[in-house]
Amino acid sequence: MAKTGAGFVDITAELRSRLIKLRQGTGMTRCQLAARSLVSERTIQLIEHGDRDKCQERTILKIAKGLDISFQALVDVPRAREPIHQSTAWAFSDLKTVAQRIDGFILESLRDHRSGDPDLLVRTHADLLFARLGKQGISLGDLHRQLNEPQLVRTLAQSMPAAGLKIEVESKFRELSLSAGSASIRVDNPTLLWDCHCLTPRSTSTVADCPIHSHPEGKLITKVFSTGLVEIVWRGLRFVWYRTAPLWPPSVDSFALVNDLLDAGILQADTESVLDLGSGTGFIGTAVASLNSKVRHVTFGDWLLSPALFSAVNWIRNADRFAANSFRARIGMWTDWLPLDSDPVRTHALVICNPPYLPILKGCEDLGRQSPVVGTDLLERLISNANSLGSRVILQFSNLANLEAATAAVRGGVGLEPLGDERRVPFRVAAVWEDGEYLQRLIEERGLEYCPSARHPFWHRIRTYEVVAQGH
Ligand SMILES: C[S@@+](CC[C@H](N)C(=O)[O-])C[C@H]1O[C@@H](n2cnc3c(N)ncnc32)[C@H](O)[C@@H]1O
Repeated sequence: MAKTGAGFVDITAELRSRLIKLRQGTGMTRCQLAARSLVSERTIQLIEHGDRDKCQERTILKIAKGLDISFQALVDVPRAREPIHQSTAWAFSDLKTVAQRIDGFILESLRDHRSGDPDLLVRTHADLLFARLGKQGISLGDLHRQLNEPQLVRTLAQSMPAAGLKIEVESKFRELSLSAGSASIRVDNPTLLWDCHCLTPRSTSTVADCPIHSHPEGKLITKVFSTGLVEIVWRGLRFVWYRTAPLWPPSVDSFALVNDLLDAGILQADTESVLDLGSGTGFIGTAVASLNSKVRHVTFGDWLLSPALFSAVNWIRNADRFAANSFRARIGMWTDWLPLDSDPVRTHALVICNPPYLPILKGCEDLGRQSPVVGTDLLERLISNANSLGSRVILQFSNLANLEAATAAVRGGVGLEPLGDERRVPFRVAAVWEDGEYLQRLIEERGLEYCPSARHPFWHRIRTYEVVAQGH
């Protein structure tokens, strides 16, 4: 706990790292946060660099306000919490908080070892989860039941608070409608789910060009988007998400991937069992089950707890819309699931994955340690092990990771066959904004497009591929 009393707050390592993560998570530079908080940029720099061991409470309060969060959330003053009893079903908000805390710890602890021995990594991941859950009085077995028994997941879903913001996405991503209470904004021909360029560095466009912030309700919608539950509605399916590092929203690439599967006729195939690998909110697996009535079983797999929780809850909330009658929410690095399931579905007719695609460039390894969006390990494992994972393996990635994908294909003795066209989309990954050298190298070495006069200054190309036998 960081508060000292007497109007001062201890700047602990946790507080520093929480501040850095929260700031980067909202895409703000130090200078932008300083302007929003009405404190100097130097103060923020001193805190982040660990050059201050104490700070006035009112300064921390101002910074928290600049981040749109409470003072308690920034200094992590623990709330008095009911112990979680294993015999009763948990409430959604309790489990969400526990998941977020443990995920934060795992992200921080494991990122340093990403390039290490894979077996050790798998074991360390399991050990860390086990130990952290134990600290909360939760056994892995109980957690597994809570996330996999339909009745318990239904109870969880029923205890979920209402989402503050609803984003309706047109089926081909041609229009978005964002609404919070009576405030609403329509975005025609969006390029991203959150189609804002305001915080992108080197952007020469003004707020007047931003479809969100040029709108009178833009400020309110931004606040709700950043702080509460968001419901994303697509083809009548409803997915809940909230802004936190361990949980990715279905974004422009997720919709593109499912539309590519539809256009290629893959969702008409006799596909009994599907693996949604790196499931996030469970968008892909749930969408596939609703678009292919032959699907009977979906496994969601992710290495963090928040995606397992949200995948299970989002599945149950939509379950009356499809015929598939069973699902599993599994946790593990890559496809090395924790051994909790007595009856796991081992092979899948279809494996689909939308993995992280930002390469860890030589000399920029630190970035891989700072952000969960950086790293191509899942993409590479999926391609090189595709033969053992399922009958058809389909993934999407950016041209920024072409090199890693091609190398993995050679290693696995497989080919990559494009499904559908390439799409050019804005590159707006807040976590890399402050690393000018990395951005420049993406431009020079990986084909990131820099278009100074466009509303979004950086662009990349995403494409869906099927992993096929070589010579196919
Ligand atoms: C780009 S997000 C895609 C989320 C979701 N499939 C979608 O399209 O909305 C990538 C997901 O992969 C997961 N992931 C990243 N590395 C992983 C690993 N080594 N093993 C398992 N899952 C991983 C992340 O936690 C995240 O949920």
